[in-house]
Amino acid sequence: MPDLSGKVAIVTGAGRGIGRSHALALARAGAKVVVHDLGAGLAGEGSDPGPAEQVVEEIRGAAGEAATNGENVADFAGAERLVRQAIDEFGRLDILVNNAGILRDRMLVNMTEDEWDAVVAVHLKGHFAPTRHAAAYWRERSKAGEEVRGRVVNTSSPSGVFGNVGQANYGAAKAGIAGFTIIVAQELQRYGVTVNCLAPNARTRMTEETFQMSAPPEGFDPLDPANVSAVVVALCADEAQGITGQVIHVWGGSVNVLRGWSADELLDAGEAGSTGGEAADARPEDPDASGVAGGWEPDALLAELLARFPDGASPPGMLAGMQSAGGRSLQDGG
Ligand SMILES: NC(=O)c1ccc[n+]([C@@H]2O[C@H](COP(=O)([O-])OP(=O)(O)OC[C@H]3O[C@@H](n4cnc5c(N)ncnc54)[C@H](O)[C@@H]3O)[C@@H](O)[C@H]2O)c1
Repeated sequence: MPDLSGKVAIVTGAGRGIGRSHALALARAGAKVVVHDLGAGLAGEGSDPGPAEQVVEEIRGAAGEAATNGENVADFAGAERLVRQAIDEFGRLDILVNNAGILRDRMLVNMTEDEWDAVVAVHLKGHFAPTRHAAAYWRERSKAGEEVRGRVVNTSSPSGVFGNVGQANYGAAKAGIAGFTIIVAQELQRYGVTVNCLAPNARTRMTEETFQMSAPPEGFDPLDPANVSAVVVALCADEAQGITGQVIHVWGGSVNVLRGWSADELLDAGEAGSTGGEAADARPEDPDASGVAGGWEPDALLAELLARFPDGASPPGMLAGMQSAGGRSLQDGG
């Protein structure tokens, strides 16, 4: 296990599920942990300090150090207080695991404005707000001449990176989190901070409700949240300083580094006759004087699209994406 002693971590949404597992794993590796959790219901309703307090007790019971924080992660000022608490109480901040989340699934045609806003707020703003305040702190430390080894681990979802029906709000926020990761990784590299992102799969109240999955009676459980936490601890090691901006799918022991939005089919107006026929004939005639070809005419582009995709083109869906990344159907229970 990487040695994280002396480091201070914040885990958002750490009162239950995957976040709880991250907090326990980071504490076992030696980190002091701010166990953040509003104690909300699955849809984001209500609040309860109990779950975060229990996790802190567990950590302290194993001779670790931890404190609770019950801010709403989507509250910008609250997120600043969360970051400030870690620094004031434990002297520093090294690790931020953005994990808090809620669900309000609905097919788009029936989705309410509130269902959209609530989910986007907790996930997307709930990643931005703590990261923004932690980043300001790390920049300040770096400018003061300190060798910063900051870590941000974000939480996307197979729904966001592969696209799941019934989750336009959640999946859009989770895809946004993957994009946020890639940009912020580039911005914070100069300050010594890595920013990575997980697309986890685990048995928690979030998935149990939808998929009715039960744990295997014995042996390895691929949907044990601890499998996801092992990736967090590895990414938080000092040795992982060079690994940043990655989006990683986790299913049991299959940890797959995803390549999202990589270049694929190129329809180049300047390239002559790859498919021939009408499409090629309708292409703009000549490259301009600089040797760069002109743009497409819509009819030519349409003909080329139909030639390239004779059977059409549409997303394969979440399960196909998960399978290609080493996962399985949550419906099968792992
Ligand atoms: N379980 C899975 O298979 C799975 C798959 C993909 C992504 N995820 C993501 O992993 C993360 C953890 O999910 P989980 O399955 O452990 O769910 P969970 O419901 O068990 O835990 C989420 C925690 O977030 C807290 N929370 C919710 N809104 C909050 C807010 N506004 N401020 C502070 N805390 C808040 C809740 O109180 C709860 O304890 C989520 O971001 C989820 O979307 C989970």
